[in-house]
Amino acid sequence: MLELGRLEDLPEDYRAALTAQNLVPLWPSLRAVLPPGKPARRTQPIAWSYQELRPLLLRAGDLTPMEKAERRVLVMANPGHGLEKMQATSTIYLGMQLLLPGEWAPAHRHTPNAVRMIVEGEGAYTTVDGEKCPMSRGDLILTPTGLWHEHGHDGDKPVVWLDVLDLPMVYYMEASYVTEGNAQSVNGEATERAYQRGGVVPAPVFNRVGQPFPMLRYPWADVRKALLALAESQPGIDAVQVAYVNPETGADCQKLLGFSALMLRPGQRLDLPARSTAMVFHLIEGAADVTLDGNHLALAEADTCCVPGYEPVSLRNPSADRPAFLFIADDAPLQKKLGLYEVRT
Ligand SMILES: [Fe+2]
Repeated sequence: MLELGRLEDLPEDYRAALTAQNLVPLWPSLRAVLPPGKPARRTQPIAWSYQELRPLLLRAGDLTPMEKAERRVLVMANPGHGLEKMQATSTIYLGMQLLLPGEWAPAHRHTPNAVRMIVEGEGAYTTVDGEKCPMSRGDLILTPTGLWHEHGHDGDKPVVWLDVLDLPMVYYMEASYVTEGNAQSVNGEATERAYQRGGVVPAPVFNRVGQPFPMLRYPWADVRKALLALAESQPGIDAVQVAYVNPETGADCQKLLGFSALMLRPGQRLDLPARSTAMVFHLIEGAADVTLDGNHLALAEADTCCVPGYEPVSLRNPSADRPAFLFIADDAPLQKKLGLYEVRT
């Protein structure tokens, strides 16, 4: 590849004249913004240990009352992007949120899409668009763009969940804002009950439901059962994986980020091809080793990690007798819409 002219090759008066007119020569930066073959990626492979994080999060419960936090969150920031940017990847925000018994995180709605993966505790709930969604370990609850949501806690122990948002993307687009509101009245049955069985959907008087987000809660008990059934019924398949989808359309359950759950059989190693999306892995159950490009991240239960795109990733379950269950997030839906999605084999 041809070496291009550098900034310092240009006379100083010329550079100053360009700057005065808010002009920048492209050629000194061309290779940086269009590198050959593979993008420059700031996302570093990073893991967050739940055992390390948990006492710091609980301490935030002592240090900062809910009225002073609104959402009591420790953001899991990737140093590759700079901690102050609060990004796990270029498009994904991750935060671990704490709600103490009796607390209430007030109603609001915002443009970024959020999901929560419940990590610990019982008795808390998220009310989304008038639907009260109970929160148990491994449940996935959607709070898509524009829907009112608030969190309450009737239990007696701390509840912790992982927030996954497309905030960095929406913020970058200068489209991120929040609206605050009053407590919602609960007005609906759990939407997931209408979709209890794959292959059939509600069709009252032959009409199909038209909402963009027909299902708001994906209980872990059901997803785990689906993974075990898949593993048992198809012993030949390598990747025992299910996607969280809109049950009406089969499309991704949200518009920018995609979510799936994956089971590793005892002792299994699974090699994932290099894809153009960065990924987040959260270990729901068991243990898993994540290896890429010379980096090795060992995940224990409730640990979370992120890896950059364009690298093959190998997953391994080190246990000889227990399956491992992973929750995965990426920005494949967004990349597919933009025509950028790539799988390299
Ligand atoms: Fe929110």
